[in-house]
Amino acid sequence: MSFDIDQLVADCLAAASDAPGHAGPAVDDVLARVISEPSSIETVLGHPRDQPTFATWFNSAELTVLHVVWPPTVDLIAHDHTMWATIGLYGGREDNRLFRELPDGTLEERRARTLFGGDTIVLGADTVHAVANPSRDWTGAIHVYGGDYFREGRRMWADPAGAGAPFDVSVVTATLDQAAARALDHPPVE
Ligand SMILES: [Fe+2]
Repeated sequence: MSFDIDQLVADCLAAASDAPGHAGPAVDDVLARVISEPSSIETVLGHPRDQPTFATWFNSAELTVLHVVWPPTVDLIAHDHTMWATIGLYGGREDNRLFRELPDGTLEERRARTLFGGDTIVLGADTVHAVANPSRDWTGAIHVYGGDYFREGRRMWADPAGAGAPFDVSVVTATLDQAAARALDHPPVE
């Protein structure tokens, strides 16, 4: 089956509207099927390397679909989404640290999970996570969110022991750009 961005978006929208109350797992099923054939995705998008990517494939009040390519050494501070999310990797590695917010506004780490190509993870609406790519490979991912990723009210935590601050998407893109500059200045010696 060949990969098609518009078909993925249509299938995610249909799965979400068909499963009110369980939209996250339903959309994760769609994404997991697509992600299970990483080579068909790379045929369309190319091998993830050399260029950090943060592209919006679809954005509405109901759903956001992003294409994200992470350089090696990315280490992104903890942030919430305030909506369910499913993340699927078609290449590389993403280490997730999953937190919950305590009543005092600080974070408690609950568990960790490492994703590789072909893996997906579903995050609940109240999950806070920090993500890193400690590998030497670039990571290619498709993210689907159960709402408008760019809406107001989201937060990020520079220090899990401190209070959250308003989410600033420019912190995400700057983190990607800085890691890309490191990767391109100092490519791994094979
Ligand atoms: Fe996130």
